[in-house]
Amino acid sequence: MHHFSRIDGALHAEAAPLEAVADAVGTPAYVYSSATLKRHYGLLREALDDHKAALGDALIAFAVKANSNLSVLATLARLGCGADTVSEGEIRRALAAGIPADRIIFSGVGKTDAELAFAIDAGVRQINIESGAELDRLIAVAASKGAAPAIAIRVNPNIGAGGHAKITTGGATDKFGVPIEEAIPLYARASASPHLTPVGLACHIGSQITTLAPMEAAFHTLRGVAETLRAQGHSVARLDLGGGLGVPYHGQTDLPSIADYVAMCARVLDGLEVEAAFEPGRLLAANAGVLISRVIQVNQRADGRRFLVLDAGMNDLMRPALYDAFHDLVPVRPREGELQAYDLVGPICESTDIFARDRMLPPMQAGDLVAFMSAGAYGAVLSSEYNSRPLVPEVLVDGDRWAVVRPRPTYEDMWAREPKAHWLQTLP
Ligand code: LLP
Repeated sequence: MHHFSRIDGALHAEAAPLEAVADAVGTPAYVYSSATLKRHYGLLREALDDHKAALGDALIAFAVKANSNLSVLATLARLGCGADTVSEGEIRRALAAGIPADRIIFSGVGKTDAELAFAIDAGVRQINIESGAELDRLIAVAASKGAAPAIAIRVNPNIGAGGHAKITTGGATDKFGVPIEEAIPLYARASASPHLTPVGLACHIGSQITTLAPMEAAFHTLRGVAETLRAQGHSVARLDLGGGLGVPYHGQTDLPSIADYVAMCARVLDGLEVEAAFEPGRLLAANAGVLISRVIQVNQRADGRRFLVLDAGMNDLMRPALYDAFHDLVPVRPREGELQAYDLVGPICESTDIFARDRMLPPMQAGDLVAFMSAGAYGAVLSSEYNSRPLVPEVLVDGDRWAVVRPRPTYEDMWAREPKAHWLQTLP
């Protein structure tokens, strides 16, 4: 469910007309709905609170990589949301947005010594360790500070899942996590160190997962590892179940609901007496955002093919080029007339700068405003200034008010980030 709907025929974000936003901010631009973020968070919170017996006081740690805008993070922070972070920059963003350190999880396959030191100093809730090599480095960094940070071992359950091979993380050949048989001795090593406090296990098997079965299997595996560790005398107080639940990009109605997902987690962890954590990214943010864009022109070929050339390109929304991802495209104010097939393309000089082929749309003309739906997760965060296109701005809506929460840089702003090498400064 989201809060983008038509009022008098024109698409609005909550009560804010996208036409007015586009007129004021220009296009392309990302527009986020606070109400949608709050709704998704609320549904997950409610479901978790219904299963406290099995999941404890479960933490929702928003995967900052999905949408790291400070105002988006602050909106979630006010609800009590935590953060799943994968870099010093993301920890800093979460803190800057008002997320307390004790709700910040630090994950990631390649954390540098400097980042580990930063996380310890910041006092994050837990550092998820993904390899023996990383464990050794963390021990050294923690020892140098006389600290003993809380850690979880990320287990690779050898169950990959996800909407595309490029977003699967839990398979045996994926770089993520520690194979099951290595996780147990690694936990023992961590327990033996005076410079670590092992608190539990973590797993995350992929993203845009649309059936519960692979997650259920992975969580059973995780439970088994926890039980083995406890039998060996170790304390396992927390299980971090990662993110990954898929969202409807095509208006699908057969996806597992949040309530079903949480009920499954509660079933698997029942009686284990752990505190669960969840790291949803897409689930909270994807349908809370759209990318608005204007039609530059319609290129009509003699063979009948029609290209809808948009002012948004793959640099603004990478998902179709990277993962063949589907994003619905809707005209903000559809014209009357029969549906026609359009190939949706951007202005970038790359053949992968194509969002979709043969989309059926009402008649489109230059200047028309369109919206890519479900673009709130892995949209703006993946954007770049390729082709020297200014970074796409972001707008946050709350009811009928809206604010530019990341402005489009001017060309002067862009050049200012590139001081000329001193030996070139005398040249014209
Ligand atoms: N936790 C960890 C350790 C992760 O690596 C990820 C995502 C998440 C949580 C959040 O997963 P989510 O709930 O959003 O599925 N750029 C790709 C998705 C990459 C996901 C990477 N890891 C896309 O646009 O589809």
